[in-house]
Amino acid sequence: MNTSFVLPGKKSMDKEVTMSLGMDKTIKKDVPHDRKYKIVTEKLNLFYGDNQALHDISMDIKPNKVTALIGPSGCGKSTFLRTLNRLNDLIPIVTLNGNVYYDGTDIYKDYDVIELRKRIGMVFQKPNPFPMSVFDNVAYGPRVHGIKKKEVLKDIVERSIRQAALWDEVSDRLHDPALGLSGGQQQRLCIARVLAVEPDVILMDEPTSALDPVSTAKIEDLIDELKQKFTIIIVTHNMQQAGRISDYTCFFLNGVLIEMGKAKDIFFNPADKRTEDYICGRFG
Ligand SMILES: Nc1ncnc2c1ncn2[C@@H]1O[C@H](COP(=O)(O)OP(=O)(O)OP(=O)(O)O)[C@@H](O)[C@H]1O
Ligand SMILES: [Mg+2]
Repeated sequence: MNTSFVLPGKKSMDKEVTMSLGMDKTIKKDVPHDRKYKIVTEKLNLFYGDNQALHDISMDIKPNKVTALIGPSGCGKSTFLRTLNRLNDLIPIVTLNGNVYYDGTDIYKDYDVIELRKRIGMVFQKPNPFPMSVFDNVAYGPRVHGIKKKEVLKDIVERSIRQAALWDEVSDRLHDPALGLSGGQQQRLCIARVLAVEPDVILMDEPTSALDPVSTAKIEDLIDELKQKFTIIIVTHNMQQAGRISDYTCFFLNGVLIEMGKAKDIFFNPADKRTEDYICGRFG
């Protein structure tokens, strides 16, 4: 990041969000490419102080698929998601051990964090546009990454907003405040903001939980489109949603990955009784 580059409204923006767009300082580096799995975690343990929130999580994430993380509140879904682009680095009491590989490279040992957060973007539960125009929200990441030419930025903004299935609704409002959009539009704008930095993996933490059914359906359709180009990992409490959109589903309980498999197997023929109980609404 060019540290002398300060954007309007930056002070009032959520640090987690700006970090998630890859805005800390490190040196760029090329990484080898393992094509079989996009992300692999091996025996990942994470602690908040003395409290262990993740226990020996070993998971393989396939490229160009939607993987859903499900499980009761407090079971570690968000914590796990944040380990995948090192957003937990922001929490001082966090310690972890084990490995997380992205394209075959251990992101906690050999990966450049700025590049990592560019490649692995995050969409949060609550739509969180920056207090600036629709255009500037989407141009924010590319600008921070050094793109200054107006024409190039215009192209990136249009491509990203189109990719986020929002263009028809905002093409004549690009210079209006983003906070004037509806909640569902704001969430697609946040997806466009992530797409603008050309990610490879998109992490989504309950992206539709604050949205009405129509906006939710739009985001679900969008996720289905996006998986052709991106790998998507989504946390959801909505079992119907997980069943509709995920190719693979992972069930967490008390920080343990109880079961992972093809969504239809997890939903129709789970191997573990606890998965069945959760899916059938018997607890959580
Ligand atoms: N910043 C933090 N500091 C200390 N403990 C935390 C922190 N964030 C989460 N935890 C603890 O880690 C555990 C897992 O929390 P996490 O937020 O990952 O769960 P979750 O599955 O995402 O829950 P929900 O479905 O409610 O969002 C919980 O016991 C929680 O209290
Ligand atoms: Mg959570």
